[in-house]
Amino acid sequence: MATSSTKYTKTAIILHWLIGFGIIFMFLLGWYMCDLPKEAPKSMSFDLFDLGIYTWQLSEETSPRSFYFNLHKSVGITLLGLIAFRIFWRLTHPAPALLKTMKAWEKKLANATHHALYLIMVLLPASGVAMALYSKYGIKWFGIPLAEGLGDEAMRDIFKNAHGIIGIILLTLLVLHILAVLKHTFVNKDGTLKRMMFK
Ligand code: HEM
Repeated sequence: MATSSTKYTKTAIILHWLIGFGIIFMFLLGWYMCDLPKEAPKSMSFDLFDLGIYTWQLSEETSPRSFYFNLHKSVGITLLGLIAFRIFWRLTHPAPALLKTMKAWEKKLANATHHALYLIMVLLPASGVAMALYSKYGIKWFGIPLAEGLGDEAMRDIFKNAHGIIGIILLTLLVLHILAVLKHTFVNKDGTLKRMMFK
């Protein structure tokens, strides 16, 4: 469903950029943490990504791998909540109609990509939650225990593979989405990007 307005609501715009950058951060964090050594000295403070910008203090000693895995789970669950709210918002606040200058195939491709993005944005963190639940570690949200791990290796591996494959699908859709925005901005010069900006 679409309205006659030419812009998204302020809430939709905030959610779009918060979740978009959140997802990019999660990819970088996911790749970073998986490369960390399994054996490393424990610590109670972590200089985030060794950038010298922010040092995170903990109440107990933990290994770097465990610290970053917990951060990934905590931010991922937060994003899942924001994504659920975004879907609710999208269903209750219809998007503005696509530009009249777009060809029929462009509209179909844009709609299909947007729907697929919503689906995959849910499936990626959901598969992460399932993986973490079946692991022996369980889930904490910024230190607050949410669920004990079930310790089922076989199921954990299934969801780990799913998380990896869904991640590649999301990356592909994101690239397609960004390429489309670049084409509209620099080739068609039709102001599509402004629909998702405050001014
Ligand atoms: C927007 C959400 C998310 C994104 C973009 C994301 C992305 C990633 C990426 C890129 C990796 C590295 C995969 C690899 O190179 O093998 C990863 C690993 C992982 N993710 Fe996520 N993730 C998300 C949400 C979650 C959530 C919500 C959880 C759990 C609550 C989670 C748990 C994990 C775990 C445990 C691993 C490590 C797998 C392993 O090697 O043991 N992820 N994620």
